[in-house]
Amino acid sequence: MLCARYFRSYRTVTSEGFEHNFALYYLSRFLLGYGLVDQMEKADDPVIMNVAGPGVGAGSIQWDDLGMEHGYDGWSAMFQGGKLNDLLGVSFAAEHRGYRTRYVLLFPGGTRTGFAGEFDAPTAAYVAEMKRIAQPVEVGIVPIIAIVDTPPREPLSAFAEGRRISLLHPSFDKDAAARLDALTRELLRSSSPRTSRPPLRRRSPYVMPD
Ligand SMILES: NC(=O)c1ccc[n+]([C@@H]2O[C@H](COP(=O)([O-])OP(=O)(O)OC[C@H]3O[C@@H](n4cnc5c(N)ncnc54)[C@H](OP(=O)(O)O)[C@@H]3O)[C@@H](O)[C@H]2O)c1
Repeated sequence: MLCARYFRSYRTVTSEGFEHNFALYYLSRFLLGYGLVDQMEKADDPVIMNVAGPGVGAGSIQWDDLGMEHGYDGWSAMFQGGKLNDLLGVSFAAEHRGYRTRYVLLFPGGTRTGFAGEFDAPTAAYVAEMKRIAQPVEVGIVPIIAIVDTPPREPLSAFAEGRRISLLHPSFDKDAAARLDALTRELLRSSSPRTSRPPLRRRSPYVMPD
């Protein structure tokens, strides 16, 4: 279950130099999925449930500035994260990887969760209103549990607000997915965490199967 996110009205960078939304909402899901896939492949019916934003029209990927150094705003960063996760699902489920583990992308619709984040005043007001009209977690969780219990047979599937959606959409473009995958692996290879690490972890912590 991949769900972590944290909304930021103001741009923040991790100690590794990654913009915070990019790191938490996308990169952590990339690392967890590929980092745990060998263990998951041994399970009876393995599935990764990536709760994000498939089927959401808003947002685009700033290919030349994934960390949004220029013109950052919290909503664009969040919506970009959703698009990146769509492409992550496409790459993970690509035929050449040959995983048994199914990948599910799911947009739950407005749900009255914690809405973790640091908000400027207008965003805080908007989030309060969203929480007021959103569905309760007890409702939003039902399709998620059903899908995890009985995952679709296909390597990749996508759901929005309880309905399966087509993968024949630019959000799931295979070339864009391959581009992002290559870019991500290059970023991870070239990143050098500034924090000191114990001797046993001197190797890059980001080593994972291709
Ligand atoms: N709620 C909605 O209306 C809605 C709509 C569309 C899509 N989604 C998607 O659903 C997913 C879950 O959203 P949500 O509404 O459940 O969000 P949420 O209530 O804000 O919860 C986010 C979770 O992320 C964790 N988290 C935050 N920063 C973290 C960090 N640095 N490291 C590890 N974990 C961290 C939080 O942990 P702590 O509780 O420990 O702080 C919290 O459990 C997200 O991917 C979101 O994009 C939600």
